[in-house]
Amino acid sequence: HFYVAIMAGGIGSRFWPASRTDYPKQFLDILNTGKTLLQWTYERFAQFIPKENIFVVTHQHYGSKVEEQLPELPLDNIVCEPSRKNTAPCIAYISFKIQKQDPKANIICAPADHLIMDGPAFTSACLNALLFVQKHSALVTLGIKPTRPDTGYGYIQFETQQAADNVYKVKTFTEKPNLELARTFLKSGDFLWNAGIFVWNVKTIVAAIKQYLPEIDEVFEQGYPALNTPGEKEAIETIYSQCTNISIDYGIMEKADNVYVIPSNFGWSDLGTWASAYENLEKDYLGNAVQGKNVMIVDATKCMVKVPNDKLVLLQGLDEFIVIDTQDVLLICKKENEQQIKEYVAEVKRNK
Ligand code: GDD
Ligand code: MG
Repeated sequence: HFYVAIMAGGIGSRFWPASRTDYPKQFLDILNTGKTLLQWTYERFAQFIPKENIFVVTHQHYGSKVEEQLPELPLDNIVCEPSRKNTAPCIAYISFKIQKQDPKANIICAPADHLIMDGPAFTSACLNALLFVQKHSALVTLGIKPTRPDTGYGYIQFETQQAADNVYKVKTFTEKPNLELARTFLKSGDFLWNAGIFVWNVKTIVAAIKQYLPEIDEVFEQGYPALNTPGEKEAIETIYSQCTNISIDYGIMEKADNVYVIPSNFGWSDLGTWASAYENLEKDYLGNAVQGKNVMIVDATKCMVKVPNDKLVLLQGLDEFIVIDTQDVLLICKKENEQQIKEYVAEVKRNK
């Protein structure tokens, strides 16, 4: 009864301009590894979950990209959403769908766009979580030791007594705190980052949706009979048009009282921003991470540079800058201000 739902419908706007609405980061090979983030994610799960139990949930616009990148995946396992409503509806959809075929399912819901270096450690953390949720009505998340006061993550405070082997009850879950709060959390040493990898029994998550997101539960209950039938596509369009837009973190994880965390260490990186890509790339002796075959660097340090191979680029006097060039867009941005890229992109789109 083990399943995984890979969430691959986000737009990854902080990786702009490499990541675009047409080509979000899960479909890209950001670090030049030979495989896209989605392909790595799929392979990690295929190690211990049977292929027919691996689902990818994405926006309908990306369905064909998933098919192209994961030719082994059964077509029925590519689940398409008619609009973007964030992760709570995405999780509701796949949970109701899987529940109909297997009411005893234990499901991992995982992002498609993370970097994980230690595969065996990742597998054992997931299996530990799956075994725990088989026996307990728990919402389990994997926790990572924080290294900086990043405001893009959820922060988890947990009890010192373990509930089971390396499983701890969560005291507080704070999604995307402001910088001041993030600094306090980091300093206290009591907090973990939410890796965004959730594990639960289908009954538990469906009950949590009913309790904390009743308006979402209601529309899915109405559409339930159509799931896994030829009428599903039409039903899901109606459901999504009525569904609230909210993430699982704000919608459930912050509120529920049966949340547990498994502190983990498997070389995790959200790879959410250029600075995190920079951290994971090889650097020259001045600390520059450079992708591009014709880049000349003079007196520049700690820069993240990604430019086309056929473009000659000269960089002088820049410290801690991000320089990303694509066919039609050039980004030059101070590394410390990169969280704002999301806002710039929104503005660029508004003014277009
Ligand atoms: N199918 C689908 N539909 N997938 C989606 C949607 C959607 O509407 N929205 C987002 N996703 C996918 C993204 O592609 C990504 O793989 C995953 O769901 C998480 O969404 P993000 O938008 O990347 O969330 P986040 O990074 O801001 O925050 C989450 O992840 C952090 C760790 O990386 C939260 O869970 C945080 O608490 C957590 O720390
Ligand atoms: Mg993310």
